[in-house]
Amino acid sequence: MDSSSGLFWTLAAIGFLLFVCSIKLKASHSRPLPPGPIGHWFFGIKKQLPHKEPWKTYASWSKLYDESVISFQVYNRTIIVLNDVQSVTDLLERRANIYSDRPEQYMSHTICGRSKTVFNISSQDPHHRIYRRLVQEGTGSRSTKAYWPVLQEELGKLLEGLGDTPENYVQHVRRNFVGVIMRVAYGYTIAGLDDTFVRVAEETTRITDKTMANGSWLVDYYPIARYIPPFLPGGGFKCTGKVWRERLSYLSDVPHQWVKKQMATGTYAGSFTSSLLTEDGVAVGKEREDIIRWCAGGLYVGASDTTVSAITSFILLMALHPNVQTRAQTEIDEICGRHQAPHPSHLGFLRYLQAVLREVLRYAPVGNLALPHKVTEEDTYRGYRIPKNATVMGNVWAIMHDPSLFPNPDIFNPDRFLESKLRGWAQPDPCRWAFGFGRRACPGTHFAETSMLFAMAGILSEFSISLPGSSDGANTAKPKISFTTGITRYLTTFRSAPRAKH
Ligand code: HEM
Repeated sequence: MDSSSGLFWTLAAIGFLLFVCSIKLKASHSRPLPPGPIGHWFFGIKKQLPHKEPWKTYASWSKLYDESVISFQVYNRTIIVLNDVQSVTDLLERRANIYSDRPEQYMSHTICGRSKTVFNISSQDPHHRIYRRLVQEGTGSRSTKAYWPVLQEELGKLLEGLGDTPENYVQHVRRNFVGVIMRVAYGYTIAGLDDTFVRVAEETTRITDKTMANGSWLVDYYPIARYIPPFLPGGGFKCTGKVWRERLSYLSDVPHQWVKKQMATGTYAGSFTSSLLTEDGVAVGKEREDIIRWCAGGLYVGASDTTVSAITSFILLMALHPNVQTRAQTEIDEICGRHQAPHPSHLGFLRYLQAVLREVLRYAPVGNLALPHKVTEEDTYRGYRIPKNATVMGNVWAIMHDPSLFPNPDIFNPDRFLESKLRGWAQPDPCRWAFGFGRRACPGTHFAETSMLFAMAGILSEFSISLPGSSDGANTAKPKISFTTGITRYLTTFRSAPRAKH
């Protein structure tokens, strides 16, 4: 072949390739986005975004459009919401290689300096894998067992607090879980309900909710907004972000420095941080230390709020369902002994209580929309186009209330997780979705389940819970159940007081 015909064939091959690519591109762009409400060209549906319980609105849109995968725009960003098990399994789990990033949030990540937290770090950053391994090891079954004495001591304080001022049950529960995780992460024992770290945990959640709220910050969507001077309308985010950055960095820096100081004195309580800060007796380098600092912060943020939400829901649901409560108490008395405090080794035998925990996580999911994922490549699903960089959310609430998985989903019934000869197989384990999806699924599940079950067993072993004004909850008007709307949802608090058992 002479050089001119060689050139001809090379050009022809390139031309053919370009032709195929252009057809593919055209075909992919001609595919529609999943159905959903159409918004304004600039705002998208920002102004229609529900302020309360958006997961319910998304589920209703899914019914309206007769498709479990829906989409809409918030400003210039495409949001895809997956409302059934099939779609979250197909995309967030089976295609996890491209569905595991986090959406860019300039306000939270850059202005507030949170891009390296375990929750926000890009899945493409090699540190993400290391973070997950460390958190999983630090909260897996072996490590959790080493923390049993911590769980027991902190439970004693919780029960004492509930006995003294039962009306402050939310604070006591918060104090318990923050107390446990501060000891696990840093070896720090909190002083009481007004301990600085308890307040920091509350403040952190409040600020994080604000920095990450869908559609709140124009700068998250339009990079040009970064250049608005702080004194002009729309530029205020810079000043607010500066204040929040300082508050949030307190969370990850101060406890970490505290551990280092304690270690320097030679007397310190062992913890996740202290065990990792030295390797073979030698202090780790700066990069490793940063990883440890972010992971310990991840333990603290991951555990302190979610578990409090679940246990306050549990207390409310026990007050509303005295029969379930009595049955759980009978089981605890049988397994742990009527006049004895439960021991963590009993937890595996408390089958009914385990079913109660599952039903709490199903009926009142802590993360109704889990955390948002980002797809890193253009994709197609069920004939729809899933654009690169779209935010993808799994609607945990919709799955947990899907009657084809959980018949009569609005009824609180732990029996659904017990196999019986009469009903046959138990319903699916909601923990498969309560803790999120694929490569971003919660790495603290084992620790979460153990610490929650232990607190539940402890509370029911000492107290009976009822609605205010009744001893058995029977004659009292049932409070209306609704959720707060944030990253972690709480059942709206009502007055419930654990009562001493007769
Ligand atoms: C009731 C208890 C808990 C619930 C319901 C829960 C739920 C979740 C959910 C839904 C996610 C996001 C998953 C996703 O993006 O798909 C998550 C992430 C995470 N959770 Fe939990 N969690 C709980 C307790 C804990 C505990 C006790 C810890 C640590 C001790 C923890 C640490 C984390 C961390 C570090 C992440 C970020 C993972 C990543 O982005 O790669 N969580 N959790």
